[in-house]
Amino acid sequence: EMDAATLPQFPMRRRCPFSPPPEYDAFRAEQPVAPVRLWNGQKVWLVSRYDDVRQVLAEKRVSNNSTHPNYPITYEARGTVKGMLASDGEPPYFLHYDGDKHFEHRRMVARDFAIRPIKDMEPLVQAHIDELIDSMLDSPEKPVDLVRAFALPLPTRIISGMLGVPYEDMKRLQEATDNSSSFNQDPEEARAAVIELGQLIDDLVTAKEKSPGQDIISRLVVEQVRPGHLTRSQLLRMIRMLLIAGHETTANMISLITLYLLENDDLRARLTEDPSQMTQAVEEMLRYFTIAHLATCRVAIEDFEVAGTTIKAGDGIIALISSADRDGAHFSAPDEVNIDRPGRDHLAFGYGVHQCLGQPLARLELRLAVSTLLRRVPTLRLAASRDSLQFKDYFNGLQSLPVTW
Ligand code: HEM
Repeated sequence: EMDAATLPQFPMRRRCPFSPPPEYDAFRAEQPVAPVRLWNGQKVWLVSRYDDVRQVLAEKRVSNNSTHPNYPITYEARGTVKGMLASDGEPPYFLHYDGDKHFEHRRMVARDFAIRPIKDMEPLVQAHIDELIDSMLDSPEKPVDLVRAFALPLPTRIISGMLGVPYEDMKRLQEATDNSSSFNQDPEEARAAVIELGQLIDDLVTAKEKSPGQDIISRLVVEQVRPGHLTRSQLLRMIRMLLIAGHETTANMISLITLYLLENDDLRARLTEDPSQMTQAVEEMLRYFTIAHLATCRVAIEDFEVAGTTIKAGDGIIALISSADRDGAHFSAPDEVNIDRPGRDHLAFGYGVHQCLGQPLARLELRLAVSTLLRRVPTLRLAASRDSLQFKDYFNGLQSLPVTW
């Protein structure tokens, strides 16, 4: 047995905001299943190669149950949040359910996020994008923070519309969900944010219970809660997950792609000239940034082997998708952005049964947001020094992105 105190500390920090920590290269080369230590002293396995990450995420012998005592909690504030939401002993979200129960709960909302209905939302998403850009261009003051003016409000508006959140509550919602999940976040602040958003969601559900509308929440109340397939508290947490999952992630991608294009004139010119290449550019950016780099934690429920190492029942595992997506054994020249790369088998949305439910929506929002920004604000430029930009850590992203034009 290894002494946890001598193990490398995880998470490791990025030195360059566009790249995963350099330690991952060494892990892939020398120790593809490496023991590391978390903030609470727990030893967990880091799995870093593309094929192995896929194997773990497709494993039947792992659980995503975050209430398991050995489930990896990557930083303290996150533990606070998960603990609070799991107060009835259930995992906080269906993301953390396993097996049939996971399948049943995911199915309750899967059709709303499927490719077809999301494609039909294109005109609506485009209208929100144009409206946000209109108000940005009308702004009396410059520079403007692209994160607050565009990247965050867009996914908030879209998911709010789908869930039937009234327009007046949207600002409150954006503030409550904008908890900038950070390794340094104060656990008390995290607690306050959980309570604030919980109150908002509870009020919303109460309103839908009284007079259901055409939205997802109303349908869940009528079709799932009333017949007893879903408890009210499960519904509240399902809504919380849908609000949070698609909000900061999409916003971070919009701001990171924008920054990348502001610094890479050739690619920007190419995409401005031929917006039809935006689909593949978004895909490559998803791989390159793999922003949800700590999302895919698991715990083994039976012994199994990965790359020659036996992982024992009860061991915590982190399947490092951001390392997998820079694995040179799978992607040629993995540290370069190459929008002509064939295939879209990156793991930025995860893999297996928990693979991101919102990917058609995320892809739509990203493609339209970035291409509209290039088209309508062709002189867009950074209005701060590169060194002054503040990056996020739990999800890779930008705290703010001052721009002018
Ligand atoms: C799951 C990434 C946008 C809803 C996941 C997972 C990843 C991910 C990596 C898997 C977690 C795991 O296996 O433990 C992303 C990224 C996004 C994004 C990078 C944006 C670029 C969205 C959007 C929604 C959404 C827009 C819609 C509301 C979900 C849900 C799950 C999930 C509900 C859980 C699925 C399940 O357990 O069955 N996401 N996501 N995500 N995502 Fe996303």
